[in-house]
Amino acid sequence: MKYLVTYWSQTGNTKKVAEAVFEELPGEKTLKPIDDVENLEGFDLTFIGFPVMQFGLPPEVKKFAAAHAEGKKIAVFITHAMLTNSDDQQQQVMLAKELEMCMAAFSKSHVVDIFHCQGELSEKMANELIASNIPMLAAFAAMRPLTIGHPNQNELSIARKFAKSVIASLPARQT
Ligand SMILES: Cc1cc2nc3c(=O)[nH]c(=O)nc-3n(C[C@H](O)[C@H](O)[C@H](O)COP(=O)(O)O)c2cc1C
Repeated sequence: MKYLVTYWSQTGNTKKVAEAVFEELPGEKTLKPIDDVENLEGFDLTFIGFPVMQFGLPPEVKKFAAAHAEGKKIAVFITHAMLTNSDDQQQQVMLAKELEMCMAAFSKSHVVDIFHCQGELSEKMANELIASNIPMLAAFAAMRPLTIGHPNQNELSIARKFAKSVIASLPARQT
């Protein structure tokens, strides 16, 4: 079984999750930023990770998925600023919509499982969002204090469990 873990990460949060996932995989495995991946040929399963950007997936990842993910076995991991366990119903609905938007890019793939967690919105990025003058994005900047330190050790440990459970779910001869 050949595994690929690939990711797009602007400030390192998704990369941390990618590394945690990668460490749990058995056998032949490759870890690469998405920009360094030509295609998914030859891999039995690809873990693909990215942050939510402007309520959906980064254009680079969308393009990659459209070009290479059709018919492929994929496990997805996503980081985002939104709280995963917010009491705020509106936030929960918004996060669900964002994840749905992201997953639409993989509608032609065989998606085995999805993991998502919070990722710190860096100070630099928060300032850029404020400067964008797009009210919804500026609102994310205000969320920065709630994102600091994520993904934390607990979230990385859940990411590891996700990787193990994806592997365990594969037919025995494929692991
Ligand atoms: C330009 C920009 C747009 C973002 N848009 C969203 C968003 O729509 N929803 C959200 O939950 N987080 C949003 N975020 C927060 C990132 O998804 C989060 O900080 C993520 O962990 C960054 O991952 P990375 O360090 O791998 O790049 C945005 C961040 C930036 C910089």
